[in-house]
Amino acid sequence: MNCNAITVAIANTYHLDLRAMYVCLCKAITDSEIREAAETGVADVEHLTEKLGVGGGCGTCLEMAEAIIDACRANRLSYAA
Ligand code: FES
Repeated sequence: MNCNAITVAIANTYHLDLRAMYVCLCKAITDSEIREAAETGVADVEHLTEKLGVGGGCGTCLEMAEAIIDACRANRLSYAA
């Protein structure tokens, strides 16, 4: 399962529309931007906040941002094994 498929699964869990999936409304950051960051080395939400500002406002996005990062990391590890 690649990151896109994982994002679809997460969106389905949270009943989200993937046409415009903003994860962080305060900073206007989308799931694609988070996945891209995860695929280029961001391994946790603290680093994501440093890099993109996700969670730097109200913080309500952190759980979903972490789920996306974790899913991408798990996906990378499964391919590496
Ligand atoms: S929605 Fe991300 S900080 Fe508010």
